[in-house]
Amino acid sequence: MPAPTSLRPNVTLVVRNAVVATCDRGPSDVGLLYGAAVAVADRHVAWIGRDRDVEDAVDLDGARVLDARGGLVTPGLVDSHTHLVFAGERAGEFALRVTGRSYLEVALSGGGIAVTTRATNAAPDETLFEDAAARARRLLQQGVTTIEVKSGYGLTVEAELRLLRIIQRLGQALFGQVTIVPTLLLHAVPPQWGGDRAGFVSRICEELVPAVAKEKLAAFCDVFIEEGAFRLDEARRILDAARARGLVPRVHADQLTSGGGAQLAADLGAASADHLEEVDDAGVAALAGAGVVAGLLPLSTLFLGSERWAPARRLLDAGVPVSLATNLNPGSAMSENVGLALSLACLKLRLSPAEALVAFTAGGARALRRPDLGRLAPGAEADLVLWGCGSAEHLAWHMAVNHALTVVKRGRVVHE
Ligand code: NIG
Repeated sequence: MPAPTSLRPNVTLVVRNAVVATCDRGPSDVGLLYGAAVAVADRHVAWIGRDRDVEDAVDLDGARVLDARGGLVTPGLVDSHTHLVFAGERAGEFALRVTGRSYLEVALSGGGIAVTTRATNAAPDETLFEDAAARARRLLQQGVTTIEVKSGYGLTVEAELRLLRIIQRLGQALFGQVTIVPTLLLHAVPPQWGGDRAGFVSRICEELVPAVAKEKLAAFCDVFIEEGAFRLDEARRILDAARARGLVPRVHADQLTSGGGAQLAADLGAASADHLEEVDDAGVAALAGAGVVAGLLPLSTLFLGSERWAPARRLLDAGVPVSLATNLNPGSAMSENVGLALSLACLKLRLSPAEALVAFTAGGARALRRPDLGRLAPGAEADLVLWGCGSAEHLAWHMAVNHALTVVKRGRVVHE
C-alpha cells in the first residue's frame, strides 16, 4: 500500500528500468542494483531503489520519466585532469615523435609547451573560449558532467590570469550542463626567465598566486615537476604559497622521470598526484599514507608511444585512491575519447572495468574534493548518464565509441 501522497517526496525526474551503478562502494565495486530506479528532486538524488517500489516511495506526479530500457545508469563522469584551453596544433611534433624523437627531446629543443604557449598567447579570448567550449561539449556528449580545467599555456602573470578568466567564463556559460573546476597550473619556466628561475618563482608566489586567490579564479594550484619544467624545490615554494592563499595543491608527478613528485604531493597533503608512470615504491607508500589521489592518465602514455604505464595495480594494492581522466591537451593526449581511456585503464593499467568506472566517477570527484559528485546516493548531485549498454564491462570492451545515450546534469537532461 503506497504511503499517502503528502508523505512521499515530490520528484522532478525519474529514471526507470535501469541497472544502476552507484559507484559509492569503494574502488572495486560499482554498487550494482538490477531492476532499479533513481528519483531526482530538482538537482539532487532523492531516492534509489527497486523499480517496482518507486511509485510507492515517491510522488511521480509531473515528473519527467526516462526509461533506461534495462541499460546501465551511472553517475556523471568526472574528468579530473584536462588542459582544454589552448590554441594552435602540435601535429608536426606528433609526426616527429612517431619517427623516434621523445617528448622531452622536443620540449628541450624549444618545442612542446612553448609552441602552445606562443599560439595561445597570440589567440583572441573569443577563439580560446569557443574552442574550449567545443572540447567541453564533446566530453559532455560522452557522459562527462564535471571537468577540471587547468591554465598553464600563458606563462606570465597576466597571461595565466587571462586563461583563468576564460575558464571562469566557461564555467558560467556551461553552468547547468557541466561543472567546471578551475586550476592554476605552472607548466614551465618561460625562456626569458631561464637565467633567473628563482625570480620567476618569486613572481608566481608574490604576484600570480595572490591575484588568483583575490579574484577567486582557481580552487587548485598544480605544478609540472619534470626535467625542463619545475624542480622539486621550486614546486614546493609555489605550492606552499598557494596553500597559504587557500588554493589546494595538486602535482604533475613522476611522469617522464622519477623526481620525488609523489613524495612532495604527500608532504603537502595535495588533492592528487597525477601521471606517476615513473613513481617509485617510496612514492607509492607516501601517497597511500597521506591519502593523496593518484591521477591515472593512460591516454598520455598511449599518445607518447610509451610502454611505461602507471603502476595502477601497485597503487591500488597499496590502498592509494585512484582517479582516471583524459588529460586532454595538445602535447601528450590530444583526445577527448572517454571510452578509450576506460579501455586503456583495463588493458594497460590492469584495472577491472568496475575499477575503471569508479576511478572515472567517484575517484575523479575525490581528486577534486567534491564528495557530492561522482556517486549516486540520496543527497548527491543528480548528475546521471544513461548508457546504451548494460555493464561497466561492456563500456570497456566495446572500445573507443560513445555509449552515452542521455546525460542529466543537476537533475535536467542536457544531452540526448
Ligand atoms: O599533463 N605533463 C605536462 N602537461 C601535459 C602536457 C602538456 C603539453 O605537452 O602541452 C600533461 O601531459
